[in-house]
Amino acid sequence: MASNYKSIIENGYNLAKSLKDQGKLATYIPELANVDPSMFGVHMTKIDGTDFGIGNYKEKFSIQSIAKVLSLTLAIKTIGEKIWNRIDVEPSGTKFDSLLLLESYKGIPRNPFINSGAIVICDILITHLDNAPKDFLSFVRNLSDLPTLTYSDKIADSEKATGYRNVALCNFIKSFGNIKNDPAEVLDFYFDMCSLEMNCQQLSYTFSFLANGGRKLSNGEKIITNSQSKRINALMLTCGFYDESGEFAFKVGLPGKSGVGGGIVALYPHNYSIAVWSPKLNPNGNSFRGMKLLEEVTTHSEMSIF
Ligand code: DON
Repeated sequence: MASNYKSIIENGYNLAKSLKDQGKLATYIPELANVDPSMFGVHMTKIDGTDFGIGNYKEKFSIQSIAKVLSLTLAIKTIGEKIWNRIDVEPSGTKFDSLLLLESYKGIPRNPFINSGAIVICDILITHLDNAPKDFLSFVRNLSDLPTLTYSDKIADSEKATGYRNVALCNFIKSFGNIKNDPAEVLDFYFDMCSLEMNCQQLSYTFSFLANGGRKLSNGEKIITNSQSKRINALMLTCGFYDESGEFAFKVGLPGKSGVGGGIVALYPHNYSIAVWSPKLNPNGNSFRGMKLLEEVTTHSEMSIF
């Protein structure tokens, strides 16, 4: 780890920690409202094999929508470019759970990271894998080198109990013919996928393949091609933060993905991946302190994709 990254992260961490208005916890998934709001951790994994963490970076949290990047990766790995017949690659400019554009675009979600798009990805995986929930978990276990990783029933059940908008989205898409399986099965898998828990160290490591041309850092295993990795990074840059994607690109200048659990993962291709966790969210549903810390990292390192 270049010593300057370490001190830049430490300074950014301290600055973000000291900010007065730090946002609000997500409460629409009851389990997420029980998280300690003062938690704050960050961890960077560099492609050169060095890493660095500070704060609560070894504390597990619900990665939520961050998992949508991993399900997209598995869908691309499984059926390749054909997925783009079912989902578009355009920013939505709407909230993550919006139903608005589905009517205009006849059930084709704008991108794979809004809930509607991630639900269609789940449907695709159910069609093409023997047992999508089991196979997706094995895929993430391999990617993360965490052989005992499991879904959190507590989080999945909590989300299922209040997931009315996702139920509506899935049924609405089905009415256009863009969900092929039973909506209940698709939603169960979607809620499971969003219930994965990792800490910042595990998350930054898991995502390092996208900073490494699609190859796993530990053993060089090719997860996806360099070109597929480029496409996923492009989607993270343009759609990773919903209606705040432009602002994240503007302030941080890296591909990234957020989750309502307060996690954000971002990466600088051929250089590093970084995971931040602070559960309080800004009005757009992205981690307040996480966004600030990442902005500090790219501003002071003067290293970003732009
Ligand atoms: O479907 C939901 O509402 C959650 N499982 C995921 C939402 C999420 O993380 C949006 N990200 N910022």
